[in-house]
Amino acid sequence: MTKKPVTAIILGAGHRAMAYADYSAAHPDELKIVGVADPDEYRRKFVRERFGFPESQCFVSAEELAREPKFADVVINGTMDEIHVETSIPVLEKGYDMLLEKPFAVNEEELDRLVEVVNRNGNKVMICHVLRYNPVYLNIKNSILSGEIGDVINIQTVEDVSYHHLSTSYVRGKWANSKKCHTSMLLAKCCHDLDLMMWLMGDDKPVSVSSVGSRFHFRPENAPENSGTRCLVDCPRVDYCDYSAKRLYLDHPDSWEVYVWRELEDIENPTDEQRREILMKSDYGRCMFKCDNDVVDHQSVLVNFASGATGTHNLTGGAAESLRTIRVIGTKGEIYAELEKKFVKIKTINPDPKKYFDERIIDLSKTPDEGHGGADTALTADFIKFIRDDNPSVSCTSIHNSIAGHRIIFLADKSRENNGQVMYL
Ligand SMILES: NC(=O)c1ccc[n+]([C@@H]2O[C@H](COP(=O)([O-])OP(=O)(O)OC[C@H]3O[C@@H](n4cnc5c(N)ncnc54)[C@H](O)[C@@H]3O)[C@@H](O)[C@H]2O)c1
Repeated sequence: MTKKPVTAIILGAGHRAMAYADYSAAHPDELKIVGVADPDEYRRKFVRERFGFPESQCFVSAEELAREPKFADVVINGTMDEIHVETSIPVLEKGYDMLLEKPFAVNEEELDRLVEVVNRNGNKVMICHVLRYNPVYLNIKNSILSGEIGDVINIQTVEDVSYHHLSTSYVRGKWANSKKCHTSMLLAKCCHDLDLMMWLMGDDKPVSVSSVGSRFHFRPENAPENSGTRCLVDCPRVDYCDYSAKRLYLDHPDSWEVYVWRELEDIENPTDEQRREILMKSDYGRCMFKCDNDVVDHQSVLVNFASGATGTHNLTGGAAESLRTIRVIGTKGEIYAELEKKFVKIKTINPDPKKYFDERIIDLSKTPDEGHGGADTALTADFIKFIRDDNPSVSCTSIHNSIAGHRIIFLADKSRENNGQVMYL
């Protein structure tokens, strides 16, 4: 029997929601975008024209959408972190199922509120933990499930964010000031890593966590003596500072465009002069040492599991290279992988003294670079299976599967604020 496509309304038409919505272009038999809710007029028009539905199916908010009779199967919620819960509740109460961006809540109270609504209404809600779909982590999961490395004793995840990403998101950008964005750096950036740790540990549940970290580098007292307040306005270091907005953004206008040039998105080919004008006044043109950033730039987390197994996560902001690595050590062997280098190395015990261990390397170099290594597409396809057949893959993260990863982060941040005090789940 031919199945009908899942019909979806975009709630918050930013670059993340569009990454999932665009799946419908290549797979019109699986996904059809039929509406949008976003206060931004340009983005509403953009989505309406791209997917071809009437003006009557465009709304300025979740509340306005929820006042209409339900006219689609699901809502794809790609709003910003701090409004995930308030925008989700009206449409979940209306009976929509949902694909919801991470983090699905920014504190424990919000988490409980949203889970209560989902439990009461019985909505299917999947969280966008895209890295579970990246071939690197999927191969690790399958190796663990096969029993190849025995029982997991320890997981070490490392995220080197990189100086340019740190600058754009966590010093100058949208996730730099916790009072404005309502998230910590660990929640905004490492939500995926802690989720992966929980997923790879399977039925072994976390029981306690402790964490330390700080804002080490980008503070006014560390500013070079002759630095100005804005790179392109009053700074003599503009041509040689590693963090110069000119060098990072103006000289490479494509590298962080969805964030830095958002104000120019309705202009087809912006000129250098238009970009320069943006940087003269926007947050992205500020001196890195003189911003209102208050989130950490490095943090370490230690998790203890019920079995006695342990996990650590190390976040470092200003690294030269953006890199996620992972080690998983089991009773029969170990796994080492690098996300960006696209390989997984598995060593298993072999008592032959000429060998001591066997090694196999999974080469994933053919994995695409874009869309989290093809994971955005795989996640959307799996969401459709989750909605249509209730038969998603091992990577599928329902809201219930995502709770432990969120709780660990809330407690890790509490621990960090209390000098590493152990927090119990
Ligand atoms: N899964 C991932 O790997 C990944 C990667 C990056 C970002 N994210 C997450 O994706 C989410 C979206 O990020 P983004 O960069 O696409 O954001 P964005 O700012 O580009 O888009 C958010 C959209 O929401 C709209 N909006 C604002 N208030 C609204 C409201 N009340 N109702 C409806 N819409 C509203 C805005 O106009 C905007 O179009 C964030 O939660 C972010 O943390 C996830």
